[in-house]
Order: sequence, then C-alpha cells, then structure tokens
Amino acid sequence: MSLYWETMETMEKLIELKNINKVFKSHKLISVKKDDYVAVNNVSLDIRKNTIFGLVGESGCGKTTLARSVMLLDPPSSGEILFDGNNIAKLTGKALHPYRSRMQIVFQDPNSALNPKMSIYNCMKEGLVNRRYPRDKIDSKIKNLLDLVGISPNHVNRFPHEFSGGQKQRIVIARALSMEPEFLVLDEPVSNLDVSIQAQIINLLLDLKDEFSLTYLFISHDLNLVSYLSDQVAVMYKGQIVEIAATEKIMKKPLHPYTLKLFSSAPGKDKKELYEADKNYTSGLPEGYTYFPPAIDSNLHLLDTGEGHSVACYALNG
Ligand SMILES: Nc1ncnc2c1ncn2[C@@H]1O[C@H](COP(=O)(O)OP(=O)(O)OP(=O)(O)O)[C@@H](O)[C@H]1O
Ligand SMILES: [Mg+2]
Repeated sequence: MSLYWETMETMEKLIELKNINKVFKSHKLISVKKDDYVAVNNVSLDIRKNTIFGLVGESGCGKTTLARSVMLLDPPSSGEILFDGNNIAKLTGKALHPYRSRMQIVFQDPNSALNPKMSIYNCMKEGLVNRRYPRDKIDSKIKNLLDLVGISPNHVNRFPHEFSGGQKQRIVIARALSMEPEFLVLDEPVSNLDVSIQAQIINLLLDLKDEFSLTYLFISHDLNLVSYLSDQVAVMYKGQIVEIAATEKIMKKPLHPYTLKLFSSAPGKDKKELYEADKNYTSGLPEGYTYFPPAIDSNLHLLDTGEGHSVACYALNG
C-alpha cells in the first residue's frame, strides 16, 4: 500500500457525497414530450479535510451541476450530502444558514459574480452584513482581505469594470473568504484568464488554502492543472464518476478507457485510442467485470481496486 494513500485514509472527511442524482425535468410542450435529463447520475465521493479534490471531465458532463448541487444552490434530486458528518441535502431556510457561509463557490466568470453597479466595497459588504458581522469591523475586514488577495485597499471604492479579469477573480475570492468558509468549490476559476495570470491565481489559491486550512473541490477540464494541484482526482463522464484515485495513482496507472482517452488527449501524453475502439478491453479489472455494458439494463459499479482507486465497470453476470 502506498504511503500516500495510507496518509489520506487517516484524514477526516469534510464532504461526503452519497448517491447524488440531479434530474432536470423536461418542459412538456403541447405535443412534444421529451425525456427527463439526468445530468448527475449516482455520484458518491469523499473529500478529506485540508485536501484538494480535483474533478475533471469534458464540457457538459455535469461538473457545474454537481457543484451547484453540493452547494445547495440547486439541490440534488436525491442523495445525501454530509458536511462534517451532517446530512444537509434536505435543509432549507434557517437550518441551512450556518452551512451557507461554511461553503463558498468561485465560478469561472467573475463578471457575472460581481454586480457592475456596486463598488467593490459594497459588493463585499453585502455578505458581511447578512451574516451580522460587527459593523465597526467591516471596514478593516474588507481592506485586510483585499490586501491579502493582492488588491490595493485604496481601490475599494472602484467599480468592477475598473479592474482586469484576474483582479476581478481576486476580488471574488476575497469575498468568498469574507464568509470564513472551510470548503471552497472552485469551478474553472482560471479558465477565463490569460495563461500568465492563471498561475498567479493558482498560487494565490494554494497560499490561501494553507493560511486558512481550507478544503477545495477544484473543477476543470484541464487535466494537467488538476493533476498538478489535487491530492485526489475524480473523472466524470456523462454525469457519472468513472474513476477516482489519489492523483499519483491515477496519473501513473489510469484504468478506465475514458480516463485513458482523456489523458491521451491532454498535451504531452501519448495517443491512446482505446476508448470505444475495443469493447473487449478489460485491463485492470478482476475476472467477471467489463468496462462496457454487456446488456442495456446492466448496472454500473464503482469497483474499489484497492488503495482508494475506484473504477466504474459492469459485472458480466448481473
Ligand atoms: N438548469 C438546467 N436545465 C436543464 N439542463 C441543464 C441545466 N443545467 C445544466 N443542464 C444540462 O446538464 C448538462 C451538464 O451541464 P454542466 O453545466 O453541469 O456541465 P459542465 O461539466 O459544467 O460543462 P462545462 O465544462 O462546459 O462547464 C448539460 O447537458 C446541460 O445542458
Ligand atoms: Mg461547468
């Protein structure tokens, strides 16, 4: 057993997702009846305290939908979300308040996150007032946080359009931190930024994680970035998790054909065309299992192959 997984295994879980499903109901127009759309399908995973959990998958596979479900911005259709051991999936109103600040999300586009009509000061003040932060301390809190993320506190009365994309994302991060969260979901937080700025924001996020003992769910379609940052990686495909492992394990020995495909399409990887090219491909699976459904109604298993490395597959007999 690798020492790395041994260490991870002993770490406490902050987030536990159990069988999360998200179904979007079809809009039934007069005579057109479409099927409901399953955007997140039976997702289970654990995120350990003070770690970075990377979620990777192609556009439209359900990453943001899963993130929004976890944050209860758009609650899951079914399943459990344990935050520090408490199931919060069904909480609403006041019962949810304490958790609202304990978890925060940073989206890809800072422009849609910041109200263009509000100064940076007012953008940040709103959340602090809502969580009844002492009024006489709001000023210094905002200025300290801006300073921490590399924005001059002298610019606090400026409006979002007066900042660059990278600066706006720094402000969004500062605002998320003002809630004093333990868990941050970072949904493609650097995808909209110039490459030169991306590294600065990533380094800032790494520094903040250490300083505030944060836990991250880092979402991206950039496999190289995810593997550089994360302690664990999950690969999502069509709403399902097809593989989860400690980063070093999945990088060294990816199992699922889709993971292989994803890895081979990343720059700097060998081209492997296993995915859907060879339906008999079962490498890494025990006897009696296959990566491709043997029948239409086959049930998908997330099979633990050991050391926290799980892969989606089907049992040949049931
Ligand atoms: N509110 C909604 N109603 C209906 N379908 C939706 C809704 N939100 C998302 N979807 C669908 O769910 C699927 C997953 O979308 P999602 O935005 O979660 O993907 P993603 O992995 O985040 O993609 P990207 O990498 O482009 O951000 C898509 O097919 C999308 O069209
Ligand atoms: Mg998305």
